[in-house]
Amino acid sequence: MTLDEVRGKYLEFFKARGHAIIPSAPLVPENDPTTLFTGSGMQPLVPYLLGQPHPAGKRVADSQKSFRAEDIDEVGDNRHTTFFEMLGNWSFGDYFKAEQLPWFFEFLTKEIGLEAQNLYVTVFAGDRETGIPADEESVGIWKKLFADAGVPDAQYIALGSEENGSAVGMQGGRIFSYDVKKNWWSRAGVPANMPAGEPGGPDSEVFYDFGTPHDEKFGKECHPNCDCGRFLEIGNSVFMEYKKNEDGTFSKLVQRNVDFGGGLERIAMAANGVPDMFLVNHKAILDQVEKASGKKYQGEDQYAFRVIADHIKAAVFLLGDGVRPANKERGYVLRRLIRKAVFEGHRLGMDSVKWMISAGGSTITSYADQYQNLIEHKSEIVAALEAEAAKFLATLEGGMDILQELIQARMHSPVHEKTITGEDAFVLFTTYGFPLELTLEKAREVGFTVDVKTFRELFEKHQELSRTASAGTFKGGLADHSEKTTRLHTAHHLLLKALQIVLGPQVKQRGSNITSERLRMDFNYDGKMTDEQKKEVERIVNEKIAEDLPVVRSEMPREEAEKLGAEHEFGQKYPERVSVYSIGPEAAVPEHPQFDKAFSIEFCGGPHVRHTGEIGHFKLMKEEAVGAGIRRVRGVVE
Ligand code: ALA
Repeated sequence: MTLDEVRGKYLEFFKARGHAIIPSAPLVPENDPTTLFTGSGMQPLVPYLLGQPHPAGKRVADSQKSFRAEDIDEVGDNRHTTFFEMLGNWSFGDYFKAEQLPWFFEFLTKEIGLEAQNLYVTVFAGDRETGIPADEESVGIWKKLFADAGVPDAQYIALGSEENGSAVGMQGGRIFSYDVKKNWWSRAGVPANMPAGEPGGPDSEVFYDFGTPHDEKFGKECHPNCDCGRFLEIGNSVFMEYKKNEDGTFSKLVQRNVDFGGGLERIAMAANGVPDMFLVNHKAILDQVEKASGKKYQGEDQYAFRVIADHIKAAVFLLGDGVRPANKERGYVLRRLIRKAVFEGHRLGMDSVKWMISAGGSTITSYADQYQNLIEHKSEIVAALEAEAAKFLATLEGGMDILQELIQARMHSPVHEKTITGEDAFVLFTTYGFPLELTLEKAREVGFTVDVKTFRELFEKHQELSRTASAGTFKGGLADHSEKTTRLHTAHHLLLKALQIVLGPQVKQRGSNITSERLRMDFNYDGKMTDEQKKEVERIVNEKIAEDLPVVRSEMPREEAEKLGAEHEFGQKYPERVSVYSIGPEAAVPEHPQFDKAFSIEFCGGPHVRHTGEIGHFKLMKEEAVGAGIRRVRGVVE
């Protein structure tokens, strides 16, 4: 079954059940300062979940293009991609659980033809902190659905958490409950991280069982939320009926909503019974790369093939929605995608960018029916892809020549030392975008070693100032890593905390942008800041600068960071292991004794200064409204 077939069947199914089919919104969000890209189907529909009437009525369905830059490091396994389509159906205060769960089950079993036997489901276990009860209604609905489909005895097992699932396993169950971390959905994640006014609710997920053996690397026992690859989440019905209040409690929204999101490409994997995203959905690109490189997808180069396939498809869609390679924001993310694809392609031995033109072209052709904008702009898209790729390939090859010369010079020098110095490896990296990996590979081919220790020392020292291809650069949203932006970035962390101290702990970051001139932060707050408040914020930031506090980076499981109360960027999803920056540690604000540990802790990829004293003097420049309940401030450092 192809993507077009699955999408077509889904939209037809919901149309027959009274839904208006709406087109996908662009990947570049309109009127939404909170994120760079559209990352889920509900994002463009938030106003209607909050009660504004949708022009198409109370039932709508679509297939929404989605891009998640934060998943870039996950690409390489059998299922993660940065670009995907999210099948969606919504009830804006219309139907609820009793219709939603049976419809999705019917769609999967009757339209797609999945065996009920291979489906497993999860529901919300309840949450003591907010007092939101367990979702027993969904348990009852699922039991009946499985019984009617010839899977009698669909046992309900209260697992309570992912950790418990790994410890005790499935125990013959089919319906499982998990806590807020797994079965609660909002743009900001768990209830504790939601800003006031944000909608969310319990959800119920459906998993497809590929029947592959459990891998104990991912936990002692297998269960639906295990990451070993046996179970694939294919759809999530969010029962969005709550909103968070200013005082942290939850109350019902004006209407009960359904926000359903299904992974189009993942449902296609289940439909074909093939536990490999790329074989099912990126075949055209894999074929082009196999042809051009003479290498095979199934083998030791699989990672490179997967990265290329994901990044080219994502780049084509971003270009189709008007993004162009640049040194900041969306353009920067696009640039990194194309460069990484060129780099991996080069490793596969492809020394021109012709393959990329064919891979981009065939991607456009395979989506021609659904996304006419790609066909209309085909020549521009392919030209932009080629220009960026060719430019980077030339840089990469320049580096390759330099490396050859270095090796030759060493071979013919009197000492005849077969080593590439850490300094040389580092210059290749900073000037030619040449990752250490590649230098090591080339060195190995001629029997050389590389002084990795010195390279790492230089890298660490320079990391905070240089632009690198490392993971953090995708996440931080920084335009560049010059010294000035680094100082502004640390000031940005101090500023968020100062705003929370002065305006209240409910203040959350809702968008940010840093250039070498200034920082800009959007945050939720009702009303204009007074002059006194602005002065107090500025005073606190400068006080923390004067204290010359250490800025410390640590890596830890996401959960641990959440427990520490680390700030999230609003609406972002984070990987299992996260990088966290704390500014402190023993930095109580004398007038505000509740802040007795680190002054600030944030999920962040960096870079930052090492001590706040390096920031200089901070000045708050401007405060204004940018939307209902969203304020924007600008600041500079001198
Ligand atoms: N909004 C839900 C999600 O993105 C369906 O998973």
